[in-house]
Amino acid sequence: MRRERALRILLLALAAVFSLLYLDPRVLTGTDIDDVELDAVPTKSEPANNVTLKQPEHVFLVNGLVEIVDPAAPHPIYELIQKAEAEWKGKLARASTTFTQAVAEYRRRWDYVREHAVELPDEYDQINDDLEPFWGLEPKDFLAIRSELEAKIDSYTVGKSATTGVHVVNTSFAPGKYDQLIKGSVAVVDLLRDVEDRLPPFRAVFSPHDSPNRLSDYFVEEAARRAARQNKYVRRNQLPNIDPTGWISACSPGSPARDFSIDEASEPPPPNSKKTFIHDHKLAMDPCLHPRHFWRHGQLLSYDKGPTPQRELVPEFSYCSSHLHHNIRFPTPYGWVDDLSHGDNPDWQDRPDERVLWRGSNTGIFHSQKTRWRTSQRALLMQLTNNIRGSISILGPSNSPTDPVGQPVQIRSARVNPGIFDVAFAGDPIMCDKQTCELLQKLFPWRKRQSAKDAGEYRYVLDVDGNGWSGRFKRLITSNALVFKASLYPEWWLDRVQPWVHYIPIQLDLNDLHDAVIFFRGDSSGVGAHEDLARKIAEQGRAWSRRFWRREDMVAHFYRLILEYARLMSEDREAMSYHSQTDLSLC
Ligand SMILES: *[C@@H]1O[C@H](CO)[C@@H](O)[C@H](O)[C@H]1NC(C)=O
Ligand SMILES: *[C@@H]1O[C@H](CO)[C@@H](O)[C@H](O)[C@H]1NC(C)=O
Repeated sequence: MRRERALRILLLALAAVFSLLYLDPRVLTGTDIDDVELDAVPTKSEPANNVTLKQPEHVFLVNGLVEIVDPAAPHPIYELIQKAEAEWKGKLARASTTFTQAVAEYRRRWDYVREHAVELPDEYDQINDDLEPFWGLEPKDFLAIRSELEAKIDSYTVGKSATTGVHVVNTSFAPGKYDQLIKGSVAVVDLLRDVEDRLPPFRAVFSPHDSPNRLSDYFVEEAARRAARQNKYVRRNQLPNIDPTGWISACSPGSPARDFSIDEASEPPPPNSKKTFIHDHKLAMDPCLHPRHFWRHGQLLSYDKGPTPQRELVPEFSYCSSHLHHNIRFPTPYGWVDDLSHGDNPDWQDRPDERVLWRGSNTGIFHSQKTRWRTSQRALLMQLTNNIRGSISILGPSNSPTDPVGQPVQIRSARVNPGIFDVAFAGDPIMCDKQTCELLQKLFPWRKRQSAKDAGEYRYVLDVDGNGWSGRFKRLITSNALVFKASLYPEWWLDRVQPWVHYIPIQLDLNDLHDAVIFFRGDSSGVGAHEDLARKIAEQGRAWSRRFWRREDMVAHFYRLILEYARLMSEDREAMSYHSQTDLSLC
């Protein structure tokens, strides 16, 4: 799938080259298209014919970022929004409305999808991507690994047999942890209850913790994916030896992260010297493409160079996963809300506070003299948005899509931060030793916890990761506020949403936060604001949440996931399969 994505990007790049050719004045003046040579890229030295000079453009990088190389080009956010809207429309238009395959399991799921009017029934790339490596494992080996996994400490197994409905069929928790760790299973089982009569028998092991735990070895995963693509199997004892270099074991050779030594002694790679925004949120989350993530995210920082990767592929379900892990992600019901009361969720124009809101605990990493919490995401967020010393480089407000974006300017932090951010920790320090707790009290702002009503005063909200993925995103996107989101974890719904249409994607290191915020709300006196766009995206986000992230949408996704997974669990996978993979895309 990664390769497919790379291919898609290559195709996009080719498309861009072709569209450049179309802008070539010779084409516009009627030169036969056959005369256009690929290497004849238009240059300034060509005879001017007053038709069109090449528009200044931004560079869309393969790592998911768009880079401002020409200050004469317009502010890139206009183009990002426009492209995202077109992509979203395309996605909606492509959605299947019929199902022709007469295979019973899928037919039943399709019935569920139709009965509950589930939209975007085809956007299940994430499921295919998560399960693909397991298709490459010999079924007997897959079953053995899965069964051994049931004994792993801190896991619970959800299943269904020929005679019982869906329930927790096994648990394995550290002594004394049962009551705390079993809690999460209740809502998970509850989701599957809605379709339990339609599900085949299965047993699936779940991690009760917030973050993914199955670090991939690139070569092991690739061997299994390759086998899967060739409709072959690889035996567990024939998998390549792991390359135990820590986190970067999961990265492909040649990926940027392989150029760095990721450990506590080394400095993070410097940020991009040019201004960048995200054009592909999933790619922008990948630490292999963005090695700075290793210095910025608690899950990665906590283990320095990283743990030893798994020797084989382990099919463990978890609330979230990352580009480095092969946990199977599922639609987590944690933090799901159907709607907010209107009293707590006023309309955009009735929200008086134009600052960006964030409140939360200092989670993400344990804070002590020995840990690297100082550069973790939430600590960084506090510094970046509350700092009033020195200056910060920002893109000035943009008046229109035809104005040049211009060069970044240095502005005193004291003139920016207090006016545009209301960001503080809530309550008292947690996850810290006594000494460090006291230090945290001094270093960072601490305020009272906010009620839902207080939060409803703000037009802009920020969402960052905690110990794992952010469980509050569903609540935020359901509100009438505009959400800025920075995360390491591509969640189960990412294929079903459109960043820049429904929320604003922000880089994990928050490098683009000030620039994106200022584009929408203007500078600290509101100059250059695009409140119309902000309001539109906020409202589209809420509408998306209400229409595409209903309980039924989670059930339909989970249903599909368990069907696919149950096929993996069969020693005779063919018998439970379609005849070809292409048919699957119909369901
Ligand atoms: C291009 O425009 C300029 C000024 O408008 C004019 O003087 C010149 O003759 C034009 N050149 C051509 C090739 O049409
Ligand atoms: C249930 O888990 C235990 C370990 O906690 C394991 O020994 C046992 O084999 C599991 N049961 C089944 C049926 O797999």
